[in-house]
Amino acid sequence: MNNSDKIYILGIESSCDDTAAAVLCEDVILSNIVATQEVHKKYGGVVPEIASRAHQQNIVPVVHQALAEAGVDKSQLKAVAFTRGPGLMGSLLVGTSFAKSLAMGLAIPLIEVNHMQGHLLAHFITESGYEKPAFPFLGLTISGGHTQIVLVRDYFDMQVIGKTLDDAVGEAFDKCGKMMGLPYPAGPLIDKYAKEGDPTAFKFAKPKVKGLDFSFSGLKTSVLYFLEKEKAKNSNFCVENRNDLCASFQKTVVDILMDKLQKAVRQTGIREIAIGGGVSANTGIRQALTHHEGWITHIPKFEYTTDNAAMIGIVGYLKYIRKEFSDVSTAAKARYTF
Ligand code: KG4
Ligand code: ZN
Repeated sequence: MNNSDKIYILGIESSCDDTAAAVLCEDVILSNIVATQEVHKKYGGVVPEIASRAHQQNIVPVVHQALAEAGVDKSQLKAVAFTRGPGLMGSLLVGTSFAKSLAMGLAIPLIEVNHMQGHLLAHFITESGYEKPAFPFLGLTISGGHTQIVLVRDYFDMQVIGKTLDDAVGEAFDKCGKMMGLPYPAGPLIDKYAKEGDPTAFKFAKPKVKGLDFSFSGLKTSVLYFLEKEKAKNSNFCVENRNDLCASFQKTVVDILMDKLQKAVRQTGIREIAIGGGVSANTGIRQALTHHEGWITHIPKFEYTTDNAAMIGIVGYLKYIRKEFSDVSTAAKARYTF
């Protein structure tokens, strides 16, 4: 194949607080750049207006870096894929406008991507040693913004069969960690301290939610009341029991996720599981999944599980070969289901 026949795709992601760009040659990643907005740390969570402004500052350098690292000139691009939604409107608008302008300027197709499909289709990036899932499979998308169980019948035939009714699982990690005195984002720290703690030290309430849906607000309240009671007796309680608190909390969350996943497996008869989203980095969840007898579990490289543009680019490629292009009038969509 001549180099000019190769399908080079630029992926752009800006749905929350990560400005990301990636260049793919078909289903292979040539570069995957993410500018994480550290500015939100001091506010203890993502501030939408600040995120939008940071995207505006980051988008051009991030795209330049992605092209440079890939060794691809923009004239070689065959299409621009971008996250249309779901996400924060102000953030989505930056990536959407940029992608439209670039595609128009280069006179190449524009491809809209649903961010949640991106998390699931990231499993189809070709990486040596990585076994892609076979259809049908169950996708578990767990992050600071999402908690979903998705029945994936084919690339673009997906059905959400379970979702959170309130907080996302990453939000539960971050908010409960904050109550324990940990900085934002607390998820990775809880994971780290949990390794040194006793998961049976404390008991937290598990929600009773019907079907395959999740709820984490009850757990949050349970942690809050428990800590308030203990801190009234010993103001140093969180510091003195940090590892046990983290281990017990993490065990509760892992149990909640695994209970629903087991239920989904029973209901669908599908034993092939693919996970995505920042929380899939969690050691407890990884262990529970990989040690589960009879399941085939797919866990992609960490850089493809957190918010990134490689996953947007792979959906772009899959749509490109299907000639599914978007019109320049395609608007960003904060709430965007599939
Ligand atoms: O996918 P992501 O980078 O961004 C979105 O939220 O979309 O996920 C970030 C979330 C945060 O809530 C963070 O605390 C959580 O993922 N997280 C973890 C771990 N690493 C990241 N939660 C638990 N254990 C981890 N190791
Ligand atoms: Zn995400």
